[in-house]
Amino acid sequence: MKKSMKNIDSYTHVRGESVYLDDIPMLRGSLFAAVFDSPVAHGKIKRLELQEAAAAKGVVKIFTAADIPGDNQIGGIIPDEELLAHTEVHFCGMPVALVIADSEENAKAAVKKIILEVDPLPIITDPVEAAQKNELIHPPRTFQLGDIANAWQNCAYIFEGSTETNGQEHLYIETQGAYAIPKEHGAIRIYSSTQGPTAVQRATANVLNLPMNKVEVDTTRLGGGFGGKEDQATAWAVLCALAAHHLQKPVKYAMHRMEDMRMTGKRHPYSSRYKIGLSKDYKIIAYEASFYQNAGATADLSPAVLERTLFHCTNSYFIPHVKATAYCCRTNLPPNTAFRGFGGPQGMFVIEAAIVKAAEALHISPSVIQQKNLLQTGDEFPYGQKAESEALACWQKADELFQIEKIQNNIQEFNKKNNLVKKGMAVMPICFGISFTKTLMNQARALVHVYTDGSIGVSTGAIEMGQGVNTKMLQVAAAIFSVDPSLVKINSTNTYRIANTSPTAASAAADLNGKATELACLAILERLKNVAADIFQTKPEAVTLNENWVYVDDKKTDWNWNKLVLETYNRRINLSEHAHYTPSGIHFDTTKEKGHPFTYHVYGTAVISATIDCLRGRYEIDDVKVVHDFGKSMNSIIDRGQCEGGIVQGIGWMTMEELLYDKDGKLRSNALSTYKVPDIYSVPKEIIIEPLATQKENLAIFSSKAVGEPPLMYGIGAYFALHNAIKSFNPNANLPFDAPMTPEKVLMALYSKIPEPKESLVKAL
Ligand code: MTE
Ligand code: HPA
Ligand code: MOS
Repeated sequence: MKKSMKNIDSYTHVRGESVYLDDIPMLRGSLFAAVFDSPVAHGKIKRLELQEAAAAKGVVKIFTAADIPGDNQIGGIIPDEELLAHTEVHFCGMPVALVIADSEENAKAAVKKIILEVDPLPIITDPVEAAQKNELIHPPRTFQLGDIANAWQNCAYIFEGSTETNGQEHLYIETQGAYAIPKEHGAIRIYSSTQGPTAVQRATANVLNLPMNKVEVDTTRLGGGFGGKEDQATAWAVLCALAAHHLQKPVKYAMHRMEDMRMTGKRHPYSSRYKIGLSKDYKIIAYEASFYQNAGATADLSPAVLERTLFHCTNSYFIPHVKATAYCCRTNLPPNTAFRGFGGPQGMFVIEAAIVKAAEALHISPSVIQQKNLLQTGDEFPYGQKAESEALACWQKADELFQIEKIQNNIQEFNKKNNLVKKGMAVMPICFGISFTKTLMNQARALVHVYTDGSIGVSTGAIEMGQGVNTKMLQVAAAIFSVDPSLVKINSTNTYRIANTSPTAASAAADLNGKATELACLAILERLKNVAADIFQTKPEAVTLNENWVYVDDKKTDWNWNKLVLETYNRRINLSEHAHYTPSGIHFDTTKEKGHPFTYHVYGTAVISATIDCLRGRYEIDDVKVVHDFGKSMNSIIDRGQCEGGIVQGIGWMTMEELLYDKDGKLRSNALSTYKVPDIYSVPKEIIIEPLATQKENLAIFSSKAVGEPPLMYGIGAYFALHNAIKSFNPNANLPFDAPMTPEKVLMALYSKIPEPKESLVKAL
């Protein structure tokens, strides 16, 4: 296997030939949809006036909740989400009516003529307020380890405080959208920009009152998903299907960027509280945290995201006494959803903040506490799983390569010499569990055909969304058959070919679908070897396939791949295989909140430096130096790309992307002019990624480790590097842990003062 094969999409990407939803040729007579969404965040619907809109130019029909033949319900985990508002609206942006017209312009123009009158109900936007009013989507959950009640008395130092992390707009380049086409016998085909084709299929079947076998969902690739299309691609696809099914005409809906920003949910903002206790030699003895998750108006994936916050609340540290409680708080915002890291980053920010708080009070570097408490193999996580830890190995290699103390000293020197420019740094270790936390979702299937000309077709449940999963699937097939990669084609993801898929999420798509592909290829390979053994009058074990040729007892024969394939067909032997894969050994008991939910963990250590301009509050991220645990990387070009992208996205979340909903639940940062995402000028000036080359058995596909989400969490270090720089300018700065650290916040903090009294130090012996 070529280790660093180029992403197979790179050629068509740069030529503009890659197919996204908008590149699918449309059938004649296709109609266009536009959604009328609620302009108010909460209230009872008094009047929905459609007459003028219905009479507008080009309008074919306007659909409301009353037109739904099946269930008006698309909730993925909890059935609490209407497709179209029926009697109440719960957030600004909630779909109320669907206009179908002969053009996009006409549909959008008609939407403006719809009138909605609402009797207002109280609006909650703050998760803590929601919790106080008992507006919880489900009862709180608590993870516990050791004996927290008695642990505090053994602590030499105890600190407590609170943190805020804001949400994050996914900003996939391709906005949400779908194109639905009616088919014979009442069936329907939906092209959907979704991470979860089966979620779209299931919801469509439910809303249209159809069996699932009549709903075909087909996806070639996404222009990015980042979690935002795991659950939230569904509504738009089902709306198109609803209209297409009723009108028996193809219907397309592709969102305008501002519609997408307004109507779809984002990363969950969290308000959190922590209490941390340390021994005299800086071992963390006890940690207590409460997490208030801003779920938005309906459950969506929030309960699962909340769970991952608890799983990752101690990051890569071993803490013997832990109690963490999380609240899934219902507010009148668009339902928040999956976003790279899936609640993990929000949990990890809090423990990092707690460590920084303790370190500053104790006048030591946070890295002293971090290093002393890194997980070791055999240590128990608060949820019962024992670590197979690379935390120390990553830290040590990072220290060797980058010399953490030297960086710290250089920064100190720099800061001594410069009054108006200050540098800061932070070390950010990560630990991220790989597997869907809902055990049953860890399953995948692949369908492999070898054609009589020797070419190979592969279908899996994985969705290509820029992360390179198709390239990895291709590598698997080419490696197992030992043929040239040009013989392999990866097909679109289609629910008629691969059924009951889990979404492409949890960083597990390459693992799960790769293993299924491997199994399917191995089954076909065995049949090919049997045929060769018969031809050469030997045992199948003596046959190998190597770079398109058949070998017997390691000697090259005059049979090549194509000849063997054709002979196998001529003997009427099956050249296709559909394989199923599920990892073994994972389980979780939610009644005890204990188990072994993850196949393995991914570790890493980043060292991040930043420079701030203390007159203006502007800053730059100087460098991010990482040792990352790739296992045995399947494709180092793709995996490096995943690290770089994740790091920049994480830094964006932590430093500049500032979502703003007003008290009425209206999104104020509703366009790219008011919501700042990282650009070429704000990315770190240098990113170094060094692999921690581990090669352990029983990991994922070809002993690689999943890479999609974990690197995002290195970005958390950027927040603390800036924090560190501000403190060196103004040691008394009032610096609440409130992400993102925008230039405005930096400027205010530089010239602020901690309010008296200092209540932070609860106890110091
Ligand atoms: N990379 C790109 N380019 N685009 C994406 O949308 N999504 C991320 C990550 N990397 C994403 C990405 C998220 S949220 C996940 S869960 C993983 O990719 C999913 O793909 P994988 O399981 O194949 O790693
Ligand atoms: N990660 C990402 N997506 C998910 C998960 C998870 O653990 N569970 C359900 N969807
Ligand atoms: Mo990723 S948030 O699991 O789609």
